[in-house]
Amino acid sequence: MSRVAYVEGQYLPHRRAAVHIEDRGYQFSDGVYEVIAVEGGRLIDEESHLDRLERSLRELRIAPPLSRRSLTIVMREVVRRNRVVNGILYIQATRGTAPREHAFPAQNKTALVMTARQTDLHRERLAQDGVTVITIPDIRWRRCDIKSVSLLPNVLGKQAAQEAGAFEAWQIDRDGFITEGTSTNAWIVGRDGLLITRSTDTAILGGITRLSVLDLARRNGVEFVERPFTVGEAKAAREAFLTSTTSLVLPVVRIDDAVVGNGKPGSLTLKIRDLYLAHMAGAPAPHLG
Ligand SMILES: Cc1ncc(COP(=O)(O)O)c(C=O)c1O
Repeated sequence: MSRVAYVEGQYLPHRRAAVHIEDRGYQFSDGVYEVIAVEGGRLIDEESHLDRLERSLRELRIAPPLSRRSLTIVMREVVRRNRVVNGILYIQATRGTAPREHAFPAQNKTALVMTARQTDLHRERLAQDGVTVITIPDIRWRRCDIKSVSLLPNVLGKQAAQEAGAFEAWQIDRDGFITEGTSTNAWIVGRDGLLITRSTDTAILGGITRLSVLDLARRNGVEFVERPFTVGEAKAAREAFLTSTTSLVLPVVRIDDAVVGNGKPGSLTLKIRDLYLAHMAGAPAPHLG
């Protein structure tokens, strides 16, 4: 089946979809994006993703490309035209096309692009076996809370992980604390059984999956704390996992050379994954036993 992309008001065959060479996203990474999971044809946590998109645009002073209502209509149309039942929707908005000058153009129109594709986000095999992560220095800028398309350090980090045979790279700030993965948020379960994830500041992206997991934890009586944790703490943790729109909740069983817990996905991690899958399925979340 041929894929369809939305490009600045038009639905085009994916292979012919293009923006101008002077699009500021292409030249300056002057743009933002969102990735939303589609499950059973439904957009998961749509409102939270749209809230974050609006915030990212506001922080960079990029005008909203469409009203929220129009945006949701296009989003559904892109999912429908690509016949995505389970997969992802990608949304990108840049400061548009203008002669190449660093400062904002006097006149410009925000350029909006959307694509969607069918893919299996559940990856049960990875969930059963757990994944490994390496640690790398966090070399990013100080506004990681903005979901900008400027992802070069993340690209290099993910490549380093792949070359090391790992799934993800957890980035470490100058004080030895883990910020987050290159495209995921990081979590541990401490020696005392407490769930820990870094508080949202400008050093990490406020993940929507992170937000939903915290909400599920709250509603199911799982105690948690939002605070930075060190690499040493993570390596000595009882459990570890990562979250994102495309990874959902995946157990981490090794960090560099350190085996986490007994080297198998932790029980709290798997319960949280189940709660999250139920949340995605729209079913009432099972209570933790
Ligand atoms: C740097 C970074 N952190 C965390 C996340 C997870 O965010 P979300 O759960 O909204 O997908 C992402 C997702 O792409 C990311 O790029």
